Amino acid sequence: MELIKGVGITKHFGGVKALSGVDFKVEQGTIVGLIGPNGAGKTTLFNIVAGAFPPTSGTVHFEGVDITGLPAYKICRRGVARTFQVTRPFGEMSCVENVAVGVVNHQPDASRAVWTQRAVECLRIVGLEGFESTEARHLNVVQKKKLEIARALATGPKLLMLDEVLGGLNSQEIQDAITFIRNLRDQLGLTILWIEHVMGAIMQATEKVIVLDQGRILMNGSPEEVVNDSRVIHAYLGD
Ligand SMILES: Nc1ncnc2c1ncn2[C@@H]1O[C@H](COP(=O)(O)OP(=O)(O)OP(=O)(O)O)[C@@H](O)[C@H]1O
Ligand SMILES: [Mg+2]
Repeated sequence: MELIKGVGITKHFGGVKALSGVDFKVEQGTIVGLIGPNGAGKTTLFNIVAGAFPPTSGTVHFEGVDITGLPAYKICRRGVARTFQVTRPFGEMSCVENVAVGVVNHQPDASRAVWTQRAVECLRIVGLEGFESTEARHLNVVQKKKLEIARALATGPKLLMLDEVLGGLNSQEIQDAITFIRNLRDQLGLTILWIEHVMGAIMQATEKVIVLDQGRILMNGSPEEVVNDSRVIHAYLGD
């Protein structure tokens, strides 16, 4: 079953055609890579799916329901969570408080104790136990990425959209992150749409890859099909 489906998604920022007629879908329980050169429109697609802004035209369906143009908090409550390419925690708030914001959106009627308990649990899942009371501004880049994922998990997502979470990681940390992301799918049953420039990670972790180039779908297929496709190689490397 397809969890999310976009049809004809187009987004113009003034004269910039960030997306033009993008069709895509993600099957439930899969890990799908979203790749493409800088400026291809990857983050813009996340913004539209998550409700940061509406598309110029086109539709997004989640679990068969049209969510196009709904406000972000409503899309989030339906089970769509995303991380930000540039992390933006509440710097003066503790890690638990940062994550609890996500829990509150998911369970607005729960008690403070429940919010806190769930936030602590999410910090544990991402490997930030021990940092509960640390102010977010004191975290390093890698820890901020983990906090970003914890905040997304706190909203109880069915679809998790990751925007370049491997930046700044060394090769061992990348291996650990791949295992971690696969476990989110295998153990929590999440469906994952993952923007990443680290091609080795996409090759290892995904079942399917969607390639965007200049706001259009260049192709989609298995990771092997995609890395061997001459159009994809050309889009990345030029002539
Ligand atoms: N809010 C905005 N206002 C104006 N133009 C925008 C906005 N967001 C994105 N763009 C433009 O849309 C195009 C696609 O940008 P987008 O950030 O989606 O690319 P990307 O594939 O995520 O790139 P990268 O790999 O560098 O993160 C770019 O030309 C960008 O400058
Ligand atoms: Mg981007």
